[in-house]
Amino acid sequence: MRILFVGDVVGSPGRDMIKEYVPRLKEKYKPQITIINGENAAAGRGITEKIYRQFLENGAQAVTLGNHSWDNRDIFEFIDNAKYLVRPANFPEGTPGEGIKFLKYNQSEVAVISLQGRTFMPELDCPFRKADELVEAARKRTSIIFVDFHAEATSEKQAMGWYLDGRVSAVVGTHTHVQTSDNRILPGGTAYLTDVGMTGPYDEILGMGREAVIKRFLTSMPVRFEVPSEGRTILSAVIIDLDPKTGKAKKTERVLINEDHPFFS
Ligand SMILES: [Fe+2]
Repeated sequence: MRILFVGDVVGSPGRDMIKEYVPRLKEKYKPQITIINGENAAAGRGITEKIYRQFLENGAQAVTLGNHSWDNRDIFEFIDNAKYLVRPANFPEGTPGEGIKFLKYNQSEVAVISLQGRTFMPELDCPFRKADELVEAARKRTSIIFVDFHAEATSEKQAMGWYLDGRVSAVVGTHTHVQTSDNRILPGGTAYLTDVGMTGPYDEILGMGREAVIKRFLTSMPVRFEVPSEGRTILSAVIIDLDPKTGKAKKTERVLINEDHPFFS
């Protein structure tokens, strides 16, 4: 059983990459489940209903979010009815939406969990204790459990990987937008990658126009960050193969598509 997970889609350049390459990646790798992190998909901040639906049309079965979940007000209009949209589960009690969704897969299910880190990020409920709660509940329904851990600190991401090793199929990091090369299978059978990387502008800084970001570093003045609409683009993803009976990972493969790493079908 194979899962394709595509990292943080940034603005329209990212959405164009999804439209162009997700169908081609699906053709090449034939994943049964495709998941996209879409928390930066609307001009770099949040997601709209139209974009969420477009991702499903492009071939995703689920869309995960992160710290920018609420940045586009459209979210409040549709999150309660969005069956395949997963926001971080450790947002405080009373937050709209859900942090775990179950997708149909053959006669079974795949649980998709989103969690957000707390190191160098806003205070939230404990992602580790929330993971315990959700994983215990999910394991009553399925052994295939995918976790998108949206976090800043590598140490917190590694800690989550080891904490959940043997209890979930995969812990894949998002948020830092640069793909790390440490994909592996932990001894308990959990696939792990510190960060899957981003999908969007290739020659900017984490997807935002580089002039503005450099100006901020030079002057510490408030500068408006925007996603440039022109320029070269990148898609970052990971493929995870697992045993559908045990949910344990068997193989991982990182995917990068850009001019330095062209796509071969
Ligand atoms: Fe983020």
